[in-house]
Amino acid sequence: MRIALALLVVAACGSSKPAPTGPVAAPAPVAEAPVPPPPVPPPPPPALDDAGVKTQSLALMTALDQRDAAAMDRLTGDSFTMYERARTYDKARVLSGMQARTDQGIPQRSRTCVDGRITRGPAHVVYVVECTENLPAYKDLPAGTLETIHTIVWIMDRDGYRAQWWSTEQGGLAAEADFWDTMYRTSTSFRREPNRHLVAAVEGRKPGTALDIMMGQGRNAVYLATTGWKVTGVDVSKEGVRQAVAAAAKQKRKLTGIVDNIETWDMGTAKWDLVTMIYAGSDAKLIARAQAAVKPGGLFVIEYFHADGTAGVGVGGFTTDQLTTAFASGWKIITDEVVEDTADFSLRTTKLVRFTAQKL
Ligand SMILES: C[S@@+](CC[C@H](N)C(=O)[O-])C[C@H]1O[C@@H](n2cnc3c(N)ncnc32)[C@H](O)[C@@H]1O
Repeated sequence: MRIALALLVVAACGSSKPAPTGPVAAPAPVAEAPVPPPPVPPPPPPALDDAGVKTQSLALMTALDQRDAAAMDRLTGDSFTMYERARTYDKARVLSGMQARTDQGIPQRSRTCVDGRITRGPAHVVYVVECTENLPAYKDLPAGTLETIHTIVWIMDRDGYRAQWWSTEQGGLAAEADFWDTMYRTSTSFRREPNRHLVAAVEGRKPGTALDIMMGQGRNAVYLATTGWKVTGVDVSKEGVRQAVAAAAKQKRKLTGIVDNIETWDMGTAKWDLVTMIYAGSDAKLIARAQAAVKPGGLFVIEYFHADGTAGVGVGGFTTDQLTTAFASGWKIITDEVVEDTADFSLRTTKLVRFTAQKL
């Protein structure tokens, strides 16, 4: 009985559809909705050419120096970050710092910058530039200058390029000295044995007075001292000079080590039997001063990168025949080579210039 009842309920609930009454009519066609036009892409942002990068970067630095908050705000993105002396500052902090300096009556600084270097990506531009900042006197601080290197990263942001990153580090000779101090303490990326071209150039020569320009940690100066030369080495790196003098002392040799800027240090005139510039740059003015410092009959020995091997690095380099021309008169050229060889610094195989001349 219970089963019969259950079957009745199932039969009754089995389908809620009404029973078909005849043929099913086809649905009426739906009117086609109009297709919206594709969205119009925004106009391409104005391109930032090289001149624009320089102008905009200078405008940013001027905004900071002159504490122009509106310009600073306009030129920087919302995530703008400034990095200086191991600290980072966000945009709000930079703007409030500008205001604070005005409130304190601190005089504005100004700067002159050399032509910077530009690197590009698909949506960013990096500008690296060296500046000399002029710091006006303030309270007991005398006026002074500061050599700085700036890296500004411009990124496409809404309708144009805005600075998102600006880092400042110390530049100039102080930075150079710092760099080499660390290098001599830690690096394995240079040859610690004496330069082979120099060793060959002085072989069999009667030792006399020698000036090692930009002596570094003394690998060449110590070699010369151990072979009887009376050596003076000049370098801006305190650590380099310390290591050189210590290495000579260890071999019971005297080496005069001078920590100074070779650009202003007085080399004297016709004073040295040997002057060396081994990986000491390619500055024409320095070479002319050093030429004057060599005694008649004395040697001038040079090894450095060829300019072809240093493109994009910013460390100079000799062009072919640069030294041939510089030593054309008053000198007997002994070696004048452009070779492909392992550089003592960087340890890369590259184009090098090896040069020796004797003063007439
Ligand atoms: C590539 S290292 C060469 C060192 C050395 N001549 C050698 O071959 O091992 C260049 C050296 O130049 C020094 N230097 C750079 N600018 C200088 C300057 N204006 N006055 C003195 N030394 C400088 C650096 O401190 C560094 O030790």
